[in-house]
Amino acid sequence: MKEYRVLTGDRPTGRLHLGHYVGSLQNRVALQNRADVVSRMYMVADVQALTDNYDNPAKVRENVMQVVLDNLAVGIDPTKTAIFIQSMIPEIAELTVLFLNLVTVNRLLENPTVKTEIAEKGWNAGKLARAFDLGEVIDGGERPGVPTGFLCYPVSQAADILFGLANLIPVGADQRPMIEQTNEIASAFNRIYKTDLFPHVDILVGETGRLIGTDGNAKMSKSLSNTIYLSDDADTVAQRVRGMYTCPSKISVSDTVSDLELAGNTVFQYLDIFDTDTELITGMKQQYQNGEIGDSVGKTRLTEALNTLLDPIRSRRAEYAQDMDGVREIVELGTNYARGVASDTMSRVRRAMGIDYF
Ligand code: TRP
Repeated sequence: MKEYRVLTGDRPTGRLHLGHYVGSLQNRVALQNRADVVSRMYMVADVQALTDNYDNPAKVRENVMQVVLDNLAVGIDPTKTAIFIQSMIPEIAELTVLFLNLVTVNRLLENPTVKTEIAEKGWNAGKLARAFDLGEVIDGGERPGVPTGFLCYPVSQAADILFGLANLIPVGADQRPMIEQTNEIASAFNRIYKTDLFPHVDILVGETGRLIGTDGNAKMSKSLSNTIYLSDDADTVAQRVRGMYTCPSKISVSDTVSDLELAGNTVFQYLDIFDTDTELITGMKQQYQNGEIGDSVGKTRLTEALNTLLDPIRSRRAEYAQDMDGVREIVELGTNYARGVASDTMSRVRRAMGIDYF
């Protein structure tokens, strides 16, 4: 039987939402009960969060424990999964430096996720963009350049994964290019330094795919204000659902709706994911299309489904939050474990490269 070492992480830039849940968290929890998984690690990726929040370390710091709580709340069990903080493992930074030699600047600029993020931030990836900003537009309207740390974060993420010799990574689909680059780096390292130290890495993406935002936007994202957080209370969830994007042409109950328009209705898209009674939902869609029911029936049903999912998550979160000393202890223990693994791997890396001097 093939054995798996699972590792994943989140950037601590805000609380986690339903998109994280369907993309990755659900899989993380399920992997805790698989017999072929021999090791599990969960990283709070604070160093990575700093690559685009270098000017706001307080935000990163404040969110470290929030993402830990979110993970504990959905059922990450600290006796099965080592929870640790990236910046507390200096070997990851060491490994990043060694990996940087194995990747070209152009390869990083071509990484689709990096490319998208650069575009979203309005950074200038052109060859003359020298400085990064300090918050302002520089030199006669020129856009600020891309911070080197940001450009290189896929290399750092490869080190995140490979220090743990992990080979199964439960993450959202947007992370696919990161896993591809990790595999390129691992195989370059193995080839150049004539070793078989690093494994081939597989990605594991949630079956439902990407969750659209409550406004119908393709991505659920804090910056678009179209999120439902795992820690939102029942009233907030109800309010979010009430404001969800449905079918603009359906103004009164009796209006009928085309298949195409129904497909764009976020309420039914969410019901398909979060309501287990598929037969009932199919019937409900039919009635909605035929002009027999309006938006409120689906919205009420969805609010119930979401609160059923979130109730136990919220109460587990509240329980852990009552004992933050205990949570810090969990993270400290996990970090110590990860440090042991890291120091082991670094010895092997040094040996493979012949830089194990004394
Ligand atoms: N890039 C991931 C995200 O934005 C977070 C992350 C950092 C990660 N290091 C990782 C995920 C290692 C998996 C493995 O969500």
